Amino acid sequence: MRIIEAKDYVDMSRKAADIIAAQIILKPQCVLGLATGSTPIGAYDRLVEKYKNGELDFSKVSTVNLDEYKGLDRNNEQSYYYFMHKHLFDRVNIDKTRTNVPDGMEPEAEKECRRYEDLITSMGGIDLQLLGLGHNGHIGFNEPAEAFDKETHCVDLSESTIEANKRFFAAVEDVPKQAYTMGIKTITGARRILVVVSGEDKAEIVAKTLTGDITPKVPASILQMHSEVIVVADTAALSKMPR
Ligand code: GLP
Repeated sequence: MRIIEAKDYVDMSRKAADIIAAQIILKPQCVLGLATGSTPIGAYDRLVEKYKNGELDFSKVSTVNLDEYKGLDRNNEQSYYYFMHKHLFDRVNIDKTRTNVPDGMEPEAEKECRRYEDLITSMGGIDLQLLGLGHNGHIGFNEPAEAFDKETHCVDLSESTIEANKRFFAAVEDVPKQAYTMGIKTITGARRILVVVSGEDKAEIVAKTLTGDITPKVPASILQMHSEVIVVADTAALSKMPR
């Protein structure tokens, strides 16, 4: 695991975008695993800038997103489908037919999870998976649990995740209670993983994730087992790392 310290959020975003850009330059037809949340927005902005400057070409890139709320349709501003179009897909020359987000409106969970898992396999797996980190150590929507959920599945969101995400909704009751998410096996099947973290409020979970026990109670701790993980974190997020 490589830990790259960034000065602040802007620096973290720049470094993360450079790593994603390098992946696209090395393999123009790569499969990117993408993430939502507030943390990657700055990196997406930088990628758009690079595209606009003529430095980056997304025309052959394919994408698969980590997760989606169950029950939100694509036009809902809080859906991850909407988020990805707003922050990245509508702003670069990506072929939209090559972008994929779990279908939150598919009511049959088993069917949707199988479809998504098969889709990733048919694409040849993920070259670079971008990840944010939840305050409880979740990745995608893999919440702390007694065992690691392996493949794409439907989850009941934890109280803390609903609480953290309510800022985006008019009322806490509007936050969906379930989501579809890639599983731990799906995520760690990526050939390379890039984790972005910013802010002091993440410092404790960063230290636990990177140096604590590997346990499903801290889902992101499994990343310690992967040979190609890059963590780009700002100084504040690394402030509780044992020196
Ligand atoms: C959500 C997403 C995660 C994301 C996490 C952290 O729950 N499902 O993929 O990593 O929030 O979000 P933020 O970056 O806003 O702290």
